[in-house]
Amino acid sequence: MAHYPDSSYFEFYQSADALLKLTSKPTRYSTKHRRAFPKFESILGSPDEDDQFLNWTKYKTKTDGTAIPHVKLHLSIGFAAIATTATALVSILHELAANTDLVEILRNEIEEVSPQGSDFLDGGSLSKLLKMDSLMKGSQRIYPFTQVASIRELRDDITLEDGKVRLKRGSACVAANSATTTDPRYYCNDPNVFDPLRFYKLRTQSTHSTDKYKFTAINHELLPWGYGRHACPSRFLAHDTMKITLALLITKYDIRLSSKSKIRPPPWRFGHTIIPDPTVEFEFKSRKV
Ligand code: HEM
Repeated sequence: MAHYPDSSYFEFYQSADALLKLTSKPTRYSTKHRRAFPKFESILGSPDEDDQFLNWTKYKTKTDGTAIPHVKLHLSIGFAAIATTATALVSILHELAANTDLVEILRNEIEEVSPQGSDFLDGGSLSKLLKMDSLMKGSQRIYPFTQVASIRELRDDITLEDGKVRLKRGSACVAANSATTTDPRYYCNDPNVFDPLRFYKLRTQSTHSTDKYKFTAINHELLPWGYGRHACPSRFLAHDTMKITLALLITKYDIRLSSKSKIRPPPWRFGHTIIPDPTVEFEFKSRKV
């Protein structure tokens, strides 16, 4: 039986609503907007219903016909969750298919951190996969899902620090993700080069705090998760999903490109979205382990 609503789920759905608005126009978190959003309970229906999307939808269709907002929310969350994570994983597969040395390094790391005598990774071991973490972050830096981050609408007129640029209330603003993540001020060693172990080296060789080099970290030098209050709330889920998927693929299969496919053809771009060329084919061969 499901136990809802609870406040964290309600927050989550408020975020989903915000995300829905993001897809069509910049978000304004006004009081009117919050009031317009129906209460979580009234969307999901009876707390006694089974905790399944299809059951919720069926229930709402039968009772008051309000299944549509619920379906919209789920679709938008599905987009926010699946397209982003899948794209990030495919970008990494490109690297793995071309770099067998890296695959060996990762296989050794997985073996080192797996709990003794076990062939699965628990939460603690996932966080010890520092080289894999570095690969994921490095890939996200050079091959992000979007060139811009943190789409916002100004709620007041502002003047930028230089005193010359004035922006009007209501203007749409975005943070320049790709430009920031390849800015030589932050990435002085070849900012445009993808070094899968760049963040591993920074984490293990720095004398100062290295938290900002973690895959899930948020800071102004790296914006693929956005920034501030509305930065991606599910990056920890994406982190676990990606590490588990990669660990399975790497340990169970040898991966290479099919003979028809070229190494890293240019990505496809739609507006500010960037995805790896989806026509590339990978081949997987079971390994004897
Ligand atoms: C590699 C995977 C992912 C990437 C790169 C990503 C990226 C982003 C970015 C750039 C934002 C906008 C942040 C901002 O406006 O400052 C965002 C927001 C959001 N993401 Fe993700 N995301 C990923 C995975 C997920 C997953 C797995 C889920 C859900 C299960 C999710 C749910 C959301 C939600 C609900 C928001 C809106 C947050 C808000 O407006 O308060 N994301 N994500």
